[in-house]
Amino acid sequence: MTSRFTLDRRLPEHHLADSLRADVLAGLTAPPRTLPPKWFYDARGSKLFDEITRLPEYYPTRAEREILRLRAADVAELTGARTLVELGSGSSDKTRLLIDALLRRGTLESYAPVDVSESALSAAGEALCHEYPGLRIAATVADFGDRLRLSAGPGPRLVAFLGGTLGNLDTAERTVFHERLRSCLGAGDALLLGADLVKDEDVLVRAYNDAQGITAEFNKNVLRVLNRELGADFDPGSFDHLAVWNRGEERIEMRLRSRTEHTVTLPALDVKIPLARGEEVRTEISVKFRRAGLTDELRRHGFAVTRWWTDARERFALLLAVPR
Ligand code: SAH
Ligand code: TRP
Repeated sequence: MTSRFTLDRRLPEHHLADSLRADVLAGLTAPPRTLPPKWFYDARGSKLFDEITRLPEYYPTRAEREILRLRAADVAELTGARTLVELGSGSSDKTRLLIDALLRRGTLESYAPVDVSESALSAAGEALCHEYPGLRIAATVADFGDRLRLSAGPGPRLVAFLGGTLGNLDTAERTVFHERLRSCLGAGDALLLGADLVKDEDVLVRAYNDAQGITAEFNKNVLRVLNRELGADFDPGSFDHLAVWNRGEERIEMRLRSRTEHTVTLPALDVKIPLARGEEVRTEISVKFRRAGLTDELRRHGFAVTRWWTDARERFALLLAVPR
């Protein structure tokens, strides 16, 4: 690793233990039972997610890449960014299209990926360091749901939030997210947001319930994280993976359904969770957006959408927004 790559750990010490405990206690002990999704992404979870992005059923990654291929040069032209910040960067795979375009335009100096997954950040950071010898890479392990402290890299800054990850936040969480992000941005900065769009229910459900069962493994991975970190005794085999389209909320809900009546013990929290046969734990939501609704949501939080691009089949949108 060279000095052009830095990795800053901003999660508080014992974050995993403390925050996971609080989340699990709040989520599992009251109905409807839920688990917060950021805990999917340990090293195994991040690898499984990477496999998801290559599944034939999981169209969002390919659709977003298609848009980036066509539009990255426009993004570079319109923003002239010197710093590219990316929230929930994961493998930074599609980001290379943006980096290439910004380097071609001659403005980019530094790339600042932010993710909760240290393993994903260090793997991506090291690879990018070799591929882009002139680029400074300042990675931060942080939770984008906490107060954002965007890297102080030179402006104008472009904040990319790709992969439809915004949809993993509910309305209240998105409000907090938009407000915090908006307060970090100044004139000349911009947001590049990838958002999955409302579409045929079958296509949506298949994207989150693939034939090979990789998404099921990914969903159940959160149980393995709880077993390892909290000494819990979840048997992943005792749960079925479900992806359900919630028509009212226009979101996919990932759930784990208990196949039997049984009790799970979480020694680190000193609690036992009795689960009925068929009882469900919601592990993730993935909200799907419409142009008018998302444009309005952003406007209400101080952003003006200046570009709205979709793939040819209008499955996914990439939008550029600026402080208004
Ligand atoms: N941007 C990539 C990865 C999307 S998956 C793509 O488009 O393919 C979501 C990513 O966000 C994962 O890398 C996960 O580790 C990260 N993530 C999830 N919740 C997070 C949180 N609260 N704070 C920071 N990163 C988070
Ligand atoms: N941001 C991704 C999405 O909403 C995350 C994701 C894809 C996901 N597949 C999943 C989360 C399965 C939980 C389970 O599309």
